[in-house]
Amino acid sequence: MKLAIFASGNGSNFQAIAEAVVTGEINAEIALLFCDKKDAYAVQRARSMAIPVISFSPKDFESKAMYEAELLHLLEEEQIDLVVLAGYMRIIGPTLLEVFSNRIINIHPSLLPDFPGLHGIKDAFYANVAETGVTIHYIDGGVDTGPIIAQEKIKIEPFDTLDSLEKKIHTIEHELFPNVLAKLIKTQQGESHL
Ligand code: GRF
Repeated sequence: MKLAIFASGNGSNFQAIAEAVVTGEINAEIALLFCDKKDAYAVQRARSMAIPVISFSPKDFESKAMYEAELLHLLEEEQIDLVVLAGYMRIIGPTLLEVFSNRIINIHPSLLPDFPGLHGIKDAFYANVAETGVTIHYIDGGVDTGPIIAQEKIKIEPFDTLDSLEKKIHTIEHELFPNVLAKLIKTQQGESHL
């Protein structure tokens, strides 16, 4: 099972997944980290773990379709089975979706369908809801829509600040994402032996 991880920023979820591959919790190979921002910290994390990095930006292409065609070429060349979006801040378009339908997984820091979009943690915090959480889901053509694979809830306490809530959410993410991927990959590997 070969994974490609897509990230745009800090890359802490990428690192959590990469560490779970190293310990054997996730029975897969990370073939590459794709980053649409070459200066993102995720790139440094990958380099320090000797994981190949590919980086280019939609700005280098005439259209989003051409950018994704290049990505698709890369994924096919590397024979990638599963694409994992770990803080990849772009919408996946039809070029990639048509070929990788049901094979692209995303993590979002809220209890979807509540608070989709770029600011899931902040939006939940300022909405004064009693609980929020983390969602792992398959990608479809929408913004943080698509079939949900797993969710974990967390209470927002009266003493929570945005900062404390962000820390708690990230702690959950770093456990949940590797766990869910490990289980999903195990199931898929079992099915392929049937
Ligand atoms: C995470 O909160 C994830 O849920 C969201 O983007 C953030 C990425 O963080 N999609 P990191 O780059 O993995 O540290």
